Amino acid sequence: MQITPPHQAPIAAVPTVVSLQGESPARAREAAKQLALEYGDYQEAIGLLLVVGETSAWLELDGVKVTAQFDSAAMQHRRKGGHNEMLGRAVGLKADRKPLIWDATGGLGRDAFVLADLGCQVMLCERVPVLAWLLDQAVKAAAVSGADQVREAADRMSVLAGDSKTLRATAGAVIYLDPMFPERKKAAAVKKEAAMLQHLADQVDDGEALWQWAWDQPVERIVVKRPLRAPILGHCRPAHSLRGKSVRFDVFTRRLEHSS
Ligand SMILES: C[S@@+](CC[C@H](N)C(=O)[O-])C[C@H]1O[C@@H](n2cnc3c(N)ncnc32)[C@H](O)[C@@H]1O
Repeated sequence: MQITPPHQAPIAAVPTVVSLQGESPARAREAAKQLALEYGDYQEAIGLLLVVGETSAWLELDGVKVTAQFDSAAMQHRRKGGHNEMLGRAVGLKADRKPLIWDATGGLGRDAFVLADLGCQVMLCERVPVLAWLLDQAVKAAAVSGADQVREAADRMSVLAGDSKTLRATAGAVIYLDPMFPERKKAAAVKKEAAMLQHLADQVDDGEALWQWAWDQPVERIVVKRPLRAPILGHCRPAHSLRGKSVRFDVFTRRLEHSS
């Protein structure tokens, strides 16, 4: 019998693409082709599913559904509740300064949407292909939303699929990192969602490697979202931290020599 060492990288779950019952399967088939995933029947497929309808799409596992959607009630609630201001302050947003953001850990794009809604151009990078696809579809859907605010924010968002660490961030951008941490303690619903995201990845998020990549980029500000009591990432102390109820934003700043 083969014993799996505890440190071995988890095996990524590969979703089966299924179409939403009663809707045309064309978009689901196209997604399966694009992502090189198997296309199956909703009734028969088991395990992780990417359910694709004509205008909606989500990941589903054991009844838990996860998607990227920017005009949802939850996003609107977050906007009205004023929870977004701290993130804006962390990236250095001012009335006359709306920095370009490199969100190197795109996930479901919620933080990115908040920043775009606050007026920043946001480049999102996500390494899990199916999440990058969901993000891209969500941006496209938001771009034709009936709500002006959602459309305008979507126009400021671009999605890249792949490992951020292989890219060079635009000089002068603010890099935003929100790596997943297994030790994160969260509300039950969020925990299920986090479990599904982890299920999708073939490796745990390497926050230290991401921080080092960010430090090597031509940027003067790096913002790292962390659980409130988690240790600091990186090899220097943040210039300051903004603390919320359950998370904090560590803000690393420095001056770079600008070559002309
Ligand atoms: C906690 S989630 C980010 C959630 C996101 N801030 C949001 O608001 O939805 C972390 C995400 O970063 C992605 N990720 C981790 N390392 C990455 C890398 N090197 N390049 C691109 N994406 C990465 C993971 O696949 C995961 O989807």
